[in-house]
Amino acid sequence: KKRIGFLTSGGDAPGMNAAVRSIVRVATSRGCEAYAIFEGYEGLVTGGDMIKKFGWADVRGYLAIGGTLIGTARCSSFRQRSGRLSAALNLVKNGIDALIVCGGDGTLTGADILRQEWPGLVKELIDNGKLTTEEAAPYETLNIVGLVGSIDNDMTSTDITIGAVTSLHRICEAVDCISSTAASHSRAFVIEVMGRHCGWLALMAAISNDADFVFIPERPPSENWESEMCKIIKKHRLLGKRKTIIIVAEGAIDRKLEPIKSSYIKDILTGIGLDTRVTTLGHIQRGGRPCAYDRNLATIQGVEAVNAILQATPETPSPMIGLRGNKITCQPLMKAVELTHQVEVAISKKDFRRATDLRDPEFAE
Ligand code: F6P
Repeated sequence: KKRIGFLTSGGDAPGMNAAVRSIVRVATSRGCEAYAIFEGYEGLVTGGDMIKKFGWADVRGYLAIGGTLIGTARCSSFRQRSGRLSAALNLVKNGIDALIVCGGDGTLTGADILRQEWPGLVKELIDNGKLTTEEAAPYETLNIVGLVGSIDNDMTSTDITIGAVTSLHRICEAVDCISSTAASHSRAFVIEVMGRHCGWLALMAAISNDADFVFIPERPPSENWESEMCKIIKKHRLLGKRKTIIIVAEGAIDRKLEPIKSSYIKDILTGIGLDTRVTTLGHIQRGGRPCAYDRNLATIQGVEAVNAILQATPETPSPMIGLRGNKITCQPLMKAVELTHQVEVAISKKDFRRATDLRDPEFAE
């Protein structure tokens, strides 16, 4: 009988609760036990009442609720080996032999480190007298499954992450609201959206909202973008457009890798006579009810996460559940994490072509 622990970590994402509900119910119906680990890795490091057995009824009503009801944190102690050592001890003490983590890039990187260190951590706990050889014996391997929950859609090897579509809807609604006031006053708006180092939300929002210009980290604008942008905007204005919408990803950079600031864009637009405002959408992009797509995605991926644990082989002990071409995928966590880090490396080397390619799951194959 498997005892499956699960946690949500990093920035919350709409749909995380649906994933938790799915894990608990599928695990229970397959004869496993499901353990909620509260406050992300923090709960794993702390143990005690931060780890609690969940049954069918504990996740009633979870589907439609935003955020994550089991809590999340950006945990610094789990980044230290000593933190991961307590996490390992808490897993063994609670009899947990499989772990499902739902979070973004940082969360899955943490899971991958735990996966790499696992037998060593258990050995160290035996060596320092925290566990006996008998107690540790059933925990030679730990199956870890990653579910990608992040509004940023910044993980390679998957088309979409849990929460990204809800967030995009939220942005679209907000830009619709801004558009009507912008058109009324014939104003320009520079709208900053989240996404960390990933431009997916910005790019999709720009396409969905008829933006005049978009700034994303993976494809910095040309050296003379200021004049190019102004030329395009003037053309649109001559065609009768009464509003100007510029979408800026929070991680947008120029070709020298310097951040592109919304206030700077505002100054440029003011310079060509446009009455300009800056709106940073902030956390409204992350909170609130998940859309139907995210509820479905998280539910199906929760089922697959439990399946992956029950079908784990020594060759695939720790997969990441993704989606490609509308089909659920299950691939090595290690590879997905590594490819995601390569995007940042490519950007830091100004190899923007490679950064864009790496974002494509097809390329990651
Ligand atoms: O990763 C999700 C995200 O919302 C990013 O888009 C953003 O950069 C970051 O988290 C904000 O984090 P915090 O809520 O800790 O300020």
